[in-house]
Amino acid sequence: MRNWKGKVAVITGAGSGMGEAMAHRFAKAGMRIVVADIDLPAAERVSADIVATGGDAIPFKVDVCSEDNVQALADKAWDHFGSVDVLCNNAGVVPSGRYRPIWEFPLEDWKWSFDVNLMGVVHGMRSFIPRMIAQGTDGHVVTTASVAGVVSGAGSPVYSAAKTAAVRATEALYASLKDIGSPIGVTLLCPGLVNTNIYRSERNRPSELQPAAGVAEETPELKAIADNLYRSAISPETVAEMVFEAMEKRQFYLLTSDKFDHSIKLRSDALLSRTNPNFESLLELSKGDVDEQETA
Ligand SMILES: NC(=O)c1ccc[n+]([C@@H]2O[C@H](COP(=O)([O-])OP(=O)(O)OC[C@H]3O[C@@H](n4cnc5c(N)ncnc54)[C@H](O)[C@@H]3O)[C@@H](O)[C@H]2O)c1
Repeated sequence: MRNWKGKVAVITGAGSGMGEAMAHRFAKAGMRIVVADIDLPAAERVSADIVATGGDAIPFKVDVCSEDNVQALADKAWDHFGSVDVLCNNAGVVPSGRYRPIWEFPLEDWKWSFDVNLMGVVHGMRSFIPRMIAQGTDGHVVTTASVAGVVSGAGSPVYSAAKTAAVRATEALYASLKDIGSPIGVTLLCPGLVNTNIYRSERNRPSELQPAAGVAEETPELKAIADNLYRSAISPETVAEMVFEAMEKRQFYLLTSDKFDHSIKLRSDALLSRTNPNFESLLELSKGDVDEQETA
């Protein structure tokens, strides 16, 4: 077993959902937590909850789109706790909107999605990894990508393209750390559907990235399906437990669901056989991605 007691974890997007659940799970293992989020009251609430149960945590307001902000987060973590052992690049957003072909998405959606879902991860790597390497301790880095980063097709291209890039960047991180013989482990978390507030991401869209034509509304049918899917999806606490186990085992690929395996295989087979792909709908696949215990 790796020794987590007294280690320091910095988690972005820790004010809600999976980040919040990881913060609690890691605190339970004796880690000290920097609860980082663009939503400061949410970060303060999570941090206070950890302290109230005997843990050690501080809140920090960060916009992961800003390299300066993420650098300030790293400075704060090292100043306050003296080390950083675990980094979770977890903050993410899904621009809302009905199903559309790729050419209809506004540039503001592209920019926001790539700023948070890709550059947030890159900023985290640039600000933390060199200092974690210099520290020389047995650390761990988690990227929260998505199953949308490893399957393909027409759905959610703005989100999926950014998550695909985050997958590739995290594979490069894993390879580079291995090349230099670093003891730092890496986990690439690719969740299927999880019951969080991700479906309400628009709450965090910056005003300068509001599309000129307004944020595209979901069709009522799609909204009803999505509401129902998210309600019956697995819990963020279940995912946090999986992440903790993956850290223990130094497991790199962590897919929370096997419902997408066939789709991943179809794509890989088409690529290797040089045949045209036959993509499956992510929405249809997600309908099977529910936790039976929670829906019972
Ligand atoms: N919920 C799912 O079904 C699902 C599936 C696959 C991947 N993911 C990914 O999981 C991660 C966590 O999301 P979640 O599902 O817990 O959703 P969530 O909305 O509950 O939590 C996301 C957190 O990120 C924060 N955040 C948003 N923009 C930020 C920014 N610019 N800087 C700092 N913090 C910011 C939000 O305030 C929020 O607290 C995201 O990367 C998301 O893309 C979610």
